Amino acid sequence: MGDRPVLCSIREHTAGRSRAAPRRGARSGILAWVVVYQIYPRSFADADGDGIGDLAGISAHLDHLRWLGVDALWMSPIHPSPMADGGYDVADYRGVDPAFGAVADVERLAAAAREHGIDLLLDIVPCHTSIEHAWFRERPELYVWSPVDGPPNNWRGAFGGPAWSRDPHGRGWYLHSFYPEQPDLDWRSPKVAQELAGVLAFWRGKGVAGFRLDALQQLLKDPELRDDPPAVSPSIMAGHPGHEALEHRFSSDQPGVGQALAALREGAGDGAFLVGEIGLPSDRHRPYLEHLDASFCFELFFAAWEAEALEEAITAGLATGKAAWVLSNHDFPRLADRIGRANVAAAALLLLALPGPAFLFQGDELALGNGPGRPPGGPEHPPYDRAGRDPFRHPMPWTEDHPHHGFTTGVPWLEVTSAPEGSVELQRATPGSPARLVRDLIALRRKLSGPVEALAARGGVLSFRRGPHVVAVNTVREARPAPTPGEVVFATARRSNGHIPGQGASVTRTV
Ligand code: NOJ
Repeated sequence: MGDRPVLCSIREHTAGRSRAAPRRGARSGILAWVVVYQIYPRSFADADGDGIGDLAGISAHLDHLRWLGVDALWMSPIHPSPMADGGYDVADYRGVDPAFGAVADVERLAAAAREHGIDLLLDIVPCHTSIEHAWFRERPELYVWSPVDGPPNNWRGAFGGPAWSRDPHGRGWYLHSFYPEQPDLDWRSPKVAQELAGVLAFWRGKGVAGFRLDALQQLLKDPELRDDPPAVSPSIMAGHPGHEALEHRFSSDQPGVGQALAALREGAGDGAFLVGEIGLPSDRHRPYLEHLDASFCFELFFAAWEAEALEEAITAGLATGKAAWVLSNHDFPRLADRIGRANVAAAALLLLALPGPAFLFQGDELALGNGPGRPPGGPEHPPYDRAGRDPFRHPMPWTEDHPHHGFTTGVPWLEVTSAPEGSVELQRATPGSPARLVRDLIALRRKLSGPVEALAARGGVLSFRRGPHVVAVNTVREARPAPTPGEVVFATARRSNGHIPGQGASVTRTV
């Protein structure tokens, strides 16, 4: 394991002290440089040849995560699921889908990851279950129901269509903030809080160090079920146009959410790391952050690759004091396709130079682009994801020579596509490759300390100071003068005459 400090052990170390001291900021030291690697389990590595990634496949590739130097890995949901929403439709929170393995495999993976100095984080979806969860059949009181025989208001689902559907068991109309196959739990019921808190405690008992909590803005809705008004400005996380036409004033983010999150914190324990996915601007995260360690700063995720826009986004995240930085995940086009391949190295430098947990999506280290999705084959071959997210979820290319780039010995569930710079194997062996760059940046990250200071955008260059270091990102094609002279500690491309090359970035140290 070596002597590298890790998230879990340090959290537990500080948790004892935090009982007497206020929780806020208690762990900011460690969290300032933590790097979390997101795995989409179906697409990481397949150990049993069925074409679907699994827990044994993840265990077999921990050396890659160790090589990169990440501190934790977060797995998108591994629970039994009919896969109406890529696993975010959970049919049993305490189980593991047989395609991935069994509960004992999670325990094994957690232990093996710890051997590599890596903590295991699970993805928990507290807002809704799958319509096939036994609770939906047997405990309808845990869900949100319309008081009338039909939709009681104009709320829309995030993927389009009304947010209310008729119950197949004939018990009326139920609410679903996402697909109809995902009925919303009623977080105003203490039983729901109790159940979900128990789920977190269960997984903590299996060696899991923390959780990424899904769609937290959707936990509580207006008890009077009032109509949402028309939208006047775009929301932070653009969804289906029908959903975006409304401002989600009553269908999400309601007062009292702190109580729900307090229950989750209690279940997870003080020592657990909790990061929230909150689909709201950062300045509305405060009530959530009372109980979480971090929340994703989606301003940065969606910022145009322009110095001013990046400055504004980082400022918004820094204001919470608990921003988790992320530029890519399983829901949106791959970074190379969103901001342009030429900017990917500079984006990695920016992400990893910011203080606060940084999240990398599998394949980001390879500068992997979007895949084609499911090959078109007519109506009998619909995409797996009806919202069109298959292209962002293609399996990892591990090797050059093996069929399907070593992802599986069988037929992959989605085609394996490699990055222009090659597979993991090739990139690890190639100086200057994206993977080598990410690895070097993770190592450099530990040498950066102090808050972000003097954040500025000038002439297409974003720059900020951290202690003696100056980080500069050139977002335009032309070379630009570096903001301050200094010794170059790291550069994505060679600097000349004190200029940062177009679309390059650097870290310098004031001499
Ligand atoms: C956010 C997840 O990242 C996404 O994949 C999912 O569709 C929604 N939450 C609903 O659970």
